[in-house]
Amino acid sequence: MQALRGRMDKVASANVPVLIQGESGTGKDIIARMIHAQSPWKGGPFVKVNCPAIPGTLLESELFGYERGAFTGAYGAKPGRVEMAHRGTLFLDEISELDLALQSKLLQLLQDGQFCRIGAQEDKKVEVRVVCATNRKLEEEIESGTFRQDLFYRINVVNLRMPPLRERRGDIEGLVQYFLDHYNQKFNCRARALSSELMSVLRKYHWPGNIRELENLIKRYVILGSEDVISNDLIARGEQEFINPEINFDGPISLKKVTRQATRELERKIILKVLQAHHWNRKQAARALNISYRALLYKIRDAGLPPNRTVRKRPDPLVPEVVTSETVAAD
Ligand SMILES: Nc1ncnc2c1ncn2[C@@H]1O[C@H](COP(=O)(O)OP(=O)(O)OP(=O)(O)O)[C@@H](O)[C@H]1O
Ligand SMILES: [Mg+2]
Repeated sequence: MQALRGRMDKVASANVPVLIQGESGTGKDIIARMIHAQSPWKGGPFVKVNCPAIPGTLLESELFGYERGAFTGAYGAKPGRVEMAHRGTLFLDEISELDLALQSKLLQLLQDGQFCRIGAQEDKKVEVRVVCATNRKLEEEIESGTFRQDLFYRINVVNLRMPPLRERRGDIEGLVQYFLDHYNQKFNCRARALSSELMSVLRKYHWPGNIRELENLIKRYVILGSEDVISNDLIARGEQEFINPEINFDGPISLKKVTRQATRELERKIILKVLQAHHWNRKQAARALNISYRALLYKIRDAGLPPNRTVRKRPDPLVPEVVTSETVAAD
């Protein structure tokens, strides 16, 4: 994040387009606003366009505006957001949602600062700094023909990649503290610091929703005032994930490996459930699972489950079952 911050500081003062890439919830919006706040046009407008939120047919008039009579219902002229961002920053969120026709209009804007209102006879000129964001891989969109390569080169003069939270786990503690203070103040609450057990769970969790997910979790904790809320949330999420395994799209995907991992995780959970249902009587559990007793012992060891019934001191949402092993002769 420090490297990213350094890069951002340098680029903010130069009027070049910036492309911010990163998963959902990593802070792309915040970075876009910071770029604006540090730019020479910080006194000018910051105009955000959330491309997927505006239906395709309306997006063109929203972005570029229209003249009176341009289409049925256009009773007066209306400037678009591009014009509103004059001498400021135009932030195009989820740029991959622009269709090809709009992409070429944007390309023209980036090339010579000119654009045309719908129904207008002449081009208009604006001075605007364009910042784009996406959580998709535009290179793949280019490959599949849905994103123009020349536009990509234009918007990608400087690229800022927001790292996902799981790649910057060292920041989790500071963020938790920040959100705790922030929401305690905002809601006039006095939620205490999280226990070290729960903090270690948060450090291990892989945060598919990134900072937004962490923020919401802490917000709930502050309002509801109990750590159980967070623990239960994480357990529920953990359970969904083995049905929906985490796949890293950055490199080659090994179908075999991903499937094996998911199967192992599923097997582990089934064994655990059956063991619990039979009060950790392993012979009964083996019978219920229709496998030999020896096979079950092997699987228990292989899955890293405790050999005997355990007593749970405090729920660990990611490893719900193993906490202390108090040996009880179960068989
Ligand atoms: N460094 C940070 N410090 C504090 N809060 C942060 C930080 N980064 C992000 N957040 C918070 O996390 C949430 C998500 O951030 P943001 O909206 O910028 O993400 P995004 O990448 O634009 O997500 P999306 O792709 O879903 O639009 C926001 O509520 C934001 O305030
Ligand atoms: Mg955003």
